[in-house]
Amino acid sequence: MTNVTVIGAQWGDEGKGKVIDWLADRADVVVRFQGGNNAGHTIVVGNNVYKFSLLPSGVVQGKLSIIGNGVVVNPWSLLDEIERVRGQGLKITPEILVVADNACIVLPLHADLDRAREERAGDNKIGTTARGIGPAYEDKVGRRAIRFVDLADAESLRAKIERLLAHHEPLRRGLDLPDVSAQQVFDMLMAVAPKVSPYVQPAWRVLNAVVKEGKRVLFEGAQAAMLDVDHGTYPYVTSSNTVAGQAAAGAGVGASAGGYVLGIVKAYTTRVGEGPFPTELHDEIGQRLGQRGDEFGTVTGRPRRCGWFDAVLVRQSVTVSGIDGVVLTKLDVLDGIETLKICTGYKLGDKVLDYLPAGLRDQAAVVPIYEEIAGWTQSTKGARSWRDLPPNAVIYVRRIEELIGAPTVQVTTGPDRDDTIVMRDPFQG
Ligand code: IMP
Repeated sequence: MTNVTVIGAQWGDEGKGKVIDWLADRADVVVRFQGGNNAGHTIVVGNNVYKFSLLPSGVVQGKLSIIGNGVVVNPWSLLDEIERVRGQGLKITPEILVVADNACIVLPLHADLDRAREERAGDNKIGTTARGIGPAYEDKVGRRAIRFVDLADAESLRAKIERLLAHHEPLRRGLDLPDVSAQQVFDMLMAVAPKVSPYVQPAWRVLNAVVKEGKRVLFEGAQAAMLDVDHGTYPYVTSSNTVAGQAAAGAGVGASAGGYVLGIVKAYTTRVGEGPFPTELHDEIGQRLGQRGDEFGTVTGRPRRCGWFDAVLVRQSVTVSGIDGVVLTKLDVLDGIETLKICTGYKLGDKVLDYLPAGLRDQAAVVPIYEEIAGWTQSTKGARSWRDLPPNAVIYVRRIEELIGAPTVQVTTGPDRDDTIVMRDPFQG
């Protein structure tokens, strides 16, 4: 038995929620280690559709669920989410939900800044989720953020707010945003403090204690490797490290605690927001993928950009995150496409590349080299065994494995919990 770290291997929205739900069932503890309420995980159980942005997916099964120090947490969004899922019948109590005392708080002023900057940027905008995630991480590394632990010490909180506003005031004025007073921020934090404080604990201690007991831990990544602030398509990335290595730092456990690294990979490629996307399709097939795959952002409702499977990108994610195995999702969306294409390399001028270069200009200029694979006419929707797959679908999956350098441990073929072909349980190593 080992722990499992789940990460997206493309640009997010790979269908992590469903896989995480399956794994959470087998885990004792579920931990979020980066991101914030920019994430959107959808879990379908019977007739219930749960949408999570901040809560670890373990809350569906009442498992110990930890929001680690690496997450930036908007406490109002968290409380709304708790109320919403309580309305759907889930029990969220301090016995099962822990928020790290050293996690940083996302304030309304962060979202103001995010929106104002995006509006000003025009064509150069990042296409963020406008939740203030980037500005909140900036304050964290700028050492002026407000953390949950600060809510328990009203007097020093005032001084911390002053220091934070000394940074934000000139920024806000430059962006024509109205002034925010220290008293306003203090009052809103004091009002929310009693509601969140029951959940606030030294999460690293709670987690290390259960690790010591040999409990199974699931580290639940948000966004994806190609949105990683170091390894992604910078600057069109999110503001946290999304690669598997972040699980340890963002939760406060040793580097080896992450265990088996499971990459979630969609059978084609999507991206929401701006930035390079070498295999993007602007034709009927792209539209068809978007419609059949219901490719609209969980958080913002924006249509996702769609394209062919890019094995170069995924191979890079496999390498950078040390992915041990992948779950291939949404295979059924490809049903009925006569000829499928897989990108196996890029042309950049007269060079052939087997990786995505770091420079934005090169990323935008690479031309995909495609390999064609015959599609299948039969439906794979709801297939639950390898034998249910048409031979060409098997060939497609096997070729992807070869190209990305990692085995497929599961294939998902529909939104329902059971629409999955399971070859291996990652908790078994
Ligand atoms: P931010 O994380 O809101 O700053 O947005 C930065 C980039 O990451 C944008 O391109 C977003 O669309 C993208 N992004 C953030 N969270 C997610 C997610 O959960 N799924 C997919 N894309 C995301």
